[in-house]
Amino acid sequence: MENQEFTIAADGVEPSKVPQRTLYTGVKLPGVGIGTFGSDRFTGEEIAEAVKGAISVGYRHIDCASVYGNEHLIGESLKAAMEGGIKREELFVTSKVWNDMHGDGDVLISVAKSLKDLKLEYLDLYLIHWPFPNYHAPGCTVESRSKDAKPYIHEDFMKTWRQMERLVEMGLVKHIGTSNMTVAKLKLLMRDAKIKPAANEMELHPHFQQQELFDFCMENKIQPIGFCPIGSPTRPDRDKTENDTVDIEDPVVLKIAKRLNVHPAVVCIKWAVQRGQVPIPFSVRRNEYLSNLMCSTVDPITDEEMAELSKIDKNCRLIKGQVFLWKDDQPWEDLWDVNGEITPA
Ligand SMILES: NC(=O)c1ccc[n+]([C@@H]2O[C@H](COP(=O)([O-])OP(=O)(O)OC[C@H]3O[C@@H](n4cnc5c(N)ncnc54)[C@H](OP(=O)(O)O)[C@@H]3O)[C@@H](O)[C@H]2O)c1
Repeated sequence: MENQEFTIAADGVEPSKVPQRTLYTGVKLPGVGIGTFGSDRFTGEEIAEAVKGAISVGYRHIDCASVYGNEHLIGESLKAAMEGGIKREELFVTSKVWNDMHGDGDVLISVAKSLKDLKLEYLDLYLIHWPFPNYHAPGCTVESRSKDAKPYIHEDFMKTWRQMERLVEMGLVKHIGTSNMTVAKLKLLMRDAKIKPAANEMELHPHFQQQELFDFCMENKIQPIGFCPIGSPTRPDRDKTENDTVDIEDPVVLKIAKRLNVHPAVVCIKWAVQRGQVPIPFSVRRNEYLSNLMCSTVDPITDEEMAELSKIDKNCRLIKGQVFLWKDDQPWEDLWDVNGEITPA
């Protein structure tokens, strides 16, 4: 008999109603996923419970990473879901190789660990989490620098990418992709990859729209997956600076939220889905993760409102990545190739 826990909750969302995106392989990706980075505020157990709850309200797309330190707990939730009647092929599970596992055989070791922890035989998507091989201790301050830190070196990145390609050939992952990339870096990867990236995970919220990178991805059939879609109000304190703006306090977002009688966070998710990226909002609260999924199926934002939202971009990057810098006294913008060229060593 099926475990009742995983029949869709009465107030949940039928997964087939959630907008789908099609990757260049023809495989469909649910247009909203649940994030699993607890920002050092939520325990692995709370997050694993949220993943279980999310599946029971209709989520089928789960964004994981080895560095979040909770894949072994999320694996229990996935196992319970599958024992409860959810088929593996109904789920879309992503994981990411961390910066200390780039290069020659380490990517295989990393994916093997994620698969074991998540209790899966394959991943739907495997990403290179950051294009730099620069390790830093979890929870360290933004001033911390690794003495071994390096700039982006394309030859080194391609060594890691070749390992990623092997994982596809071995059947361990269905798609490979990138995260925290720039147009300049993606151009080189598109030139040299045998297996092209299927998705790029990037920071995307109304105050940080990354239009040029977004357009580049869309033109090249690289599906943008948007992290921090609500402007990450609970991000670690170390990632907050006094100049950061707050999406869910923006007057345009508030106006639309009032019209729809929803939380401003929901407006951010609707905007993301209607624009064409796949948001992966995080929450351990059932009412929040349920409304983040439900909102993709009802009450669209109007074209006029979408046009208004397109004008509130503040170019406000929240996850600046300072700990990955390779020189002392270096501006964090160096990580992001803001002049259109890869920042030299
Ligand atoms: N690839 C990368 O380098 C990278 C980087 C960062 C994040 N990510 C991924 O992206 C995911 C999402 O990013 P994020 O967690 O930083 O930020 P986020 O999803 O923008 O914000 C999450 C926070 O927003 C609040 N929230 C969520 N839904 C809400 C709702 N319906 N109403 C009101 N408040 C709501 C919650 O705060 P409260 O708990 O206070 O309610 C929650 O903690 C991560 O979990 C991770 O999987 C990837």
